[in-house]
Amino acid sequence: MTDLSALNARFGLSGQAVFKQGSGGLDVVEVANSRGSATVALQGAQVLTWAPRGLPPVIWLSRAAKFVPGKSIRGGVPVCWPWFGPHATVATLPAHGFARTVPWEVIGAQTLADGATRLDFRLVLNEAARAQWPHATLLECHITVGTALEIDLVTRNADRSAITIGDALHTYFEVSDIRQVTIRGLEGCPYLDKMDAGKRKQQAGPVTIGAETDRIYLDTGADCLIDDPGLKRRIRIRKRGSHSTVVWNPWIEKSVKMGDFGEDGYLNMVCVESANAADDVVTIAPGGEHHLWVRYETEPMN
Ligand code: BG6
Repeated sequence: MTDLSALNARFGLSGQAVFKQGSGGLDVVEVANSRGSATVALQGAQVLTWAPRGLPPVIWLSRAAKFVPGKSIRGGVPVCWPWFGPHATVATLPAHGFARTVPWEVIGAQTLADGATRLDFRLVLNEAARAQWPHATLLECHITVGTALEIDLVTRNADRSAITIGDALHTYFEVSDIRQVTIRGLEGCPYLDKMDAGKRKQQAGPVTIGAETDRIYLDTGADCLIDDPGLKRRIRIRKRGSHSTVVWNPWIEKSVKMGDFGEDGYLNMVCVESANAADDVVTIAPGGEHHLWVRYETEPMN
């Protein structure tokens, strides 16, 4: 059990960042400042909501999301680490690693000069995690909430030998109607099509979605744009330290099977994930570190 009053005494920012119990008894920190607002769950250091001040939500959180300790939450920005997708050799290990389902420690909170709020989290590997990942590794997640949402996921290798990780900021973006949305930035990229036995293909033109879509775009550090004429806005995704971009929408049948998407929830979301996936994993030398960094912003679209 977290001591919320101790957290508020140490890291609460009066009127800007409050630690409280959220849905399902999971602890969250609620941020509201002159530039934007967000909710972040301490489990997984998972951003659940974010909106620039006075604008509609940018991050999608399922209306049917389940908030259960130790289970992943459908929506927001799950942190996938230290592998992406199924584990390479052990089928019983959890998909997308364990970082998203364990509690993180809060190590800092501050108001920045421009009025944005920065939150710092650290993942201390417990015994169960070490059984899945027997490497001395330090993981931090720095989240800045303002007119932009910035996330910096930092992996430090404290081991004596090199480690190889996969990771992703598995962001669910809110859209007015997925059938009207265009994703730009991946034109000409090779990708693995999980809907077609992982076949390698090449993207022609912008990405549009009208059926279940699950793709890993390879060898791309490009920024992406989600054009949403219904909301008259464009979401700009900037990234660094990411060599793959995953685009995912489960469509009707799969979302019904998943049971936590809500009716027609799939119509209002798209995952555009800044990742290091498939062969684009990252090797970190002893003493070295890797940053997976993203910045999301919106702009009006005519
Ligand atoms: C995506 C994967 O990143 O995450 C999909 O490409 C997967 O294959 C999806 O279905 C959701 O995963 P999960 O574990 O959160 O249900």
